[in-house]
Amino acid sequence: MLAEGETLGIIGPNGSGKTTLFNLMTGFLKADHGKISFSGDEITNRRPSHICQLGITRTFQIPRPFAPVDVLENVMAGRAYGKESSSDMKQARQEAMEELEFTGLVSKQDVVSKDLNLLGRKRLEIARALATKPKLLLLDEVFAGLNPKETEEALELISLIKKRGITLTIVEHVLKVILGVSSRVVVLNFGEKIFEGLPTEAINHPKVIEAYLEKIFMLEVKNVDVSYGDMQALWDVSLVAKDEEMWPWSDRTEQGRRPC
Ligand SMILES: Nc1ncnc2c1ncn2[C@@H]1O[C@H](COP(=O)(O)OP(=O)(O)OP(=O)(O)O)[C@@H](O)[C@H]1O
Ligand SMILES: [Mg+2]
Repeated sequence: MLAEGETLGIIGPNGSGKTTLFNLMTGFLKADHGKISFSGDEITNRRPSHICQLGITRTFQIPRPFAPVDVLENVMAGRAYGKESSSDMKQARQEAMEELEFTGLVSKQDVVSKDLNLLGRKRLEIARALATKPKLLLLDEVFAGLNPKETEEALELISLIKKRGITLTIVEHVLKVILGVSSRVVVLNFGEKIFEGLPTEAINHPKVIEAYLEKIFMLEVKNVDVSYGDMQALWDVSLVAKDEEMWPWSDRTEQGRRPC
């Protein structure tokens, strides 16, 4: 269940079903069983276009721009496809430009989408999704692959989206993001929900620690031996450095942050 205005975080190990859940909620996958409702309408197994027009839009884990066309045309396509879609091209252009401004892409409006860098492609995913005028926006790992500075920029963008009153569901492995923006967290493991509650409770819950948090290593060294010529300097050294162990550094120095 998701309340209007909420930001729900969904976390879990690779392959736990997070994207599958988004695919179900947006009609890209048909459910074998169960029911999904949105604002009182049952949307189980409806077409993606219909669900989008009702007000649910998602971004893709791997950005999917319409590659041959430029950034502005990509966003205009979102406008034409989504809720309140219209054939008024002048208006579509105007509104697409507003989303480019919002997402910091105005200077790239004429760039062919495939020539954008990763952050640019992620911004474009968000701009195109926003152009559909969603009530509920599903973001699938928009922070993956971004460097710390880009992550900060993307976080700012998320908080601006929240201020627009859009309800958000965010799938993310970057815990700093999930803990920073979510009002509630759902944790999946092997296709099952193993936790639902406050973010602070999630990171202390034994099931979540065992299934997920313990496995997020920033650095893992296993049974290493090394020698300088005849001198052995390390014998059988193993260690792990976890993401959250780096957090105390994260607000003071770029270097302590998790590479996304
Ligand atoms: N198109 C597909 N065909 C067959 N199996 C799939 C397909 N897509 C996903 N799966 C499987 O379904 C399970 C859930 O995958 P899903 O992509 O939802 O995981 P995820 O939680 O999003 O993982 P990640 O964090 O790596 O993105 C996995 O076992 C995955 O291998
Ligand atoms: Mg996924």
